[in-house]
Amino acid sequence: MLVAQGSLDVSGLFSQAADGLDVVCAGTHQEAFARVREGFHVALVDLRIPGGGLSLAGALATSQPRMPVLLYGSDPTIEELEEALNLGLAGFLRLPMDVKKVRDRLTRILGRTAFKSVPASSQLAAAEPQPRARRAGLLALAKLIEQRDTETGLHVERVAAFSEALAFRLRDAGVYGAQIDDNLLQFIGIAAWLHDIGKVSIPDAILRKPGRLAPDEFELMKTHCVKGWEVIQAATKADDGRDPELNLAADVIRHHHERWDGKGYPDGLKGEATPLAARIVAVIDAYDAMRSKRLYNPERGKRESLEEIRRCAGTHFDPRIAEVFLRHADEFEQLGRTLERVTARWK
Ligand SMILES: [Fe+2]
Ligand SMILES: [Fe+2]
Repeated sequence: MLVAQGSLDVSGLFSQAADGLDVVCAGTHQEAFARVREGFHVALVDLRIPGGGLSLAGALATSQPRMPVLLYGSDPTIEELEEALNLGLAGFLRLPMDVKKVRDRLTRILGRTAFKSVPASSQLAAAEPQPRARRAGLLALAKLIEQRDTETGLHVERVAAFSEALAFRLRDAGVYGAQIDDNLLQFIGIAAWLHDIGKVSIPDAILRKPGRLAPDEFELMKTHCVKGWEVIQAATKADDGRDPELNLAADVIRHHHERWDGKGYPDGLKGEATPLAARIVAVIDAYDAMRSKRLYNPERGKRESLEEIRRCAGTHFDPRIAEVFLRHADEFEQLGRTLERVTARWK
């Protein structure tokens, strides 16, 4: 469980109530948001954490639709409780509360059997390599490219959150429903986060060039898909190629610039030959690139960017995915603003 803890020290209470779940504490918005992608069963947020618990809880809940988020605190106002309800949070723990009550609430929210079947941290450590530790490693890898590619700002962060949200919307709409399994829903965020890691191998003169790239420079830039894929392939091989998370990441990294009409790169895959996760990330990546200010491009307005997605549905983008994206465009804009708000405090 992830606990975003303000001045109230609750680690003892929540550790006792956690029933074998690992408890990870984060003291700031930044830390909570950075760690949440490691994968948690539940998040608990202090209403009075510096920067505000409501906005953090809302952002965590939107970016991780499968993870219940609860607020806790001793002095909520009616307005705050209403807001928590509006944000779709899983509940409010009014402190002080004894261990048994906290455990009961968590058990109800997480489902009795799921909660009980979580192995204790010591058992987990003895078995497979810690999934959370491995995920932290993947995130560190993604951070590498942010260091180099400073102009993109929150781009990777948004592409990850939006891709995950779009996958849920597609499943809800019954579009490619059978292919959108738990595996895809669970890992598309991290895969999207890694989509451009191959850019670490692109020279600064090209990566940071103001203005358009010359044709030969563009050819070099295009190699980031295969370069990034090779990095993940090395990790996949060490794991016998059986790891679903790494396989999904490899698909997205290699194929996020393929086009529906087969005119993309690196493999010129056409239609549904491109893996579904990569087709989802392609729409999101292009939309976010249009909406962000880049060295080579001024940012475009929402209407113009949506128009471009519509125009390119069926040529550049998978038309069914583009359609669901357009239907929920306001939600993505809203999520983008929430991410902006939460992360503005980091700087
Ligand atoms: Fe890319
Ligand atoms: Fe990108």
